[in-house]
Amino acid sequence: MTDNDRRSQTPRPLEELTLTVADDWHLHVRDGAALATVVPHSARQFARAIIMPNLSPPVVSVAAALAYRQRILAALPEGVSFDPLMTLYLTDSMSPDEIRRAGDCEHVVACKLYPAGATTGSDSGVTDVARISGVLAEMERQGLVLCVHGEVTDPDVDMFDREAIFIERVLESTVRDFPNLKIVFEHITTTEAVDFVAAASPTVAATLTPQHLMFNRNALFVGGIRPHYYCLPILKRESHRKALVRAAVSGNPKYFLGTDSAPHARNTKEAACGCAGCYSAWHALELYAEVFDDANALGQLEAFASFYGADFYGLERNSGTLSLIRESHTVPESFRYADSEITPLASGRALRFRLKNPRQ
Ligand code: NCD
Ligand code: ZN
Repeated sequence: MTDNDRRSQTPRPLEELTLTVADDWHLHVRDGAALATVVPHSARQFARAIIMPNLSPPVVSVAAALAYRQRILAALPEGVSFDPLMTLYLTDSMSPDEIRRAGDCEHVVACKLYPAGATTGSDSGVTDVARISGVLAEMERQGLVLCVHGEVTDPDVDMFDREAIFIERVLESTVRDFPNLKIVFEHITTTEAVDFVAAASPTVAATLTPQHLMFNRNALFVGGIRPHYYCLPILKRESHRKALVRAAVSGNPKYFLGTDSAPHARNTKEAACGCAGCYSAWHALELYAEVFDDANALGQLEAFASFYGADFYGLERNSGTLSLIRESHTVPESFRYADSEITPLASGRALRFRLKNPRQ
């Protein structure tokens, strides 16, 4: 066989991939001056995003969510459409009345459950799910989605086991007690979470982040401590990462894209007690493309990024397309971020795909 014959038998890698415009089903954009950096980055590739409510103070009312939405829209470049899908932050004292108002508001689509103390901005979170059973029942009636940060906060539970234990201690009973409540198990990181979601009823889905699909916990310690790879839930071992990739490329509509892009100014991450959160808004789709390419599953990326989330939330799929081309480029070292800088996930690394026609 000549070299030419051999070449013609090897499938050529896809050079360009055109997708229906995608959405981000888990995003932190912060507030104030930060919006000017991060909102345009998300809008480069996403038409909509679920906006997390963990501001300080948290977004606990429909009125606050609508005001926040206007500030996000004001940060968009001229002519770019981007629909922030708002969420309310559940506290022990959230009222079923507020949930009814949320149900009547087209811009509020979900509520976020942070176990108190689990992560950044969760101090006002729920101390015991039993305390919000009336609220969950009303959400179930209103068709609002429950987005869950699935980690127990018990200091006796090992950091790396907190997600798996949350399934046993909280999630199983919540799914059982509210059979019609739509639940998104956010940013899953373990084999246990993948298996739980697969076996659960169709009311249960999960989001997957680029960092948990690309990296295992070794990334936190390459030659020294690497704060820009620290997020919550923390990166896990390689066997878990592999299970997440299998879920993402499986074609199972329960797993969809949610970046959990969570910007923190560089000095607050490179610190004695650094903040949790990875920033991926600028290059998220390019990162996911690399994961799917490595798994020989680029053909599954569109449904994961652009269809399954919208379907689960009961929203129309987007129209319009975006293209990724196979072209190497380097993730910038930093972006300006208010009066500071922000370091993106995988900064300085070469990426294999580039967004050909950013939305702005
Ligand atoms: C998020 C943040 O910074 O707001 N941090 C993170 O590590 N993911 C909070 C969260 O989603 O847990
Ligand atoms: Zn988050």
